[in-house]
Amino acid sequence: MSELLSTQQIDQFKTRLAALEHPRELVVDLLLAVQENHGWVPDRGVELVAGMLGLTPLEVEEIATFYDKIYRRPVGRYPIHICDSVCCWSRGGEAIAAHLQQVLGIGMGETTADGLFTLLPTCCLGGCGRAPAIMVGRRFYGPLQTADVDRILAELRREATS
Ligand code: FES
Repeated sequence: MSELLSTQQIDQFKTRLAALEHPRELVVDLLLAVQENHGWVPDRGVELVAGMLGLTPLEVEEIATFYDKIYRRPVGRYPIHICDSVCCWSRGGEAIAAHLQQVLGIGMGETTADGLFTLLPTCCLGGCGRAPAIMVGRRFYGPLQTADVDRILAELRREATS
């Protein structure tokens, strides 16, 4: 994986930081930038963000671990967030979760051997009208049937090899 933040990104964040009253406003943006570059946020990413903002690593860690779309452990290229909140659950979310585990051959929290997919449970994705739903990275999919899951996985595999 590449460097955590490029020199250009650091300069851009410093410019934004200078215009802010509260450095904490940039924590999530910085963590997401690190994650975009590195695939996940290692300890040294937390320390880098803390140093840039004048915060302690613990203060950054508290925010990093609050958001389940910020990964503090390595994940696959396509982290799949499976909604397990009530609307998705009542409209077949469990079957979608079971199907994903079966076709990928992994359990929740695990990553496929090819490094492509990680399955993660998540609370409501804010798209209840399209339940059952998943998010792959920042892409939202729903309403889903198992055939849709197969199509999405095939598309992502094609994307990964193109
Ligand atoms: S309950 Fe699944 S998106 Fe809201």
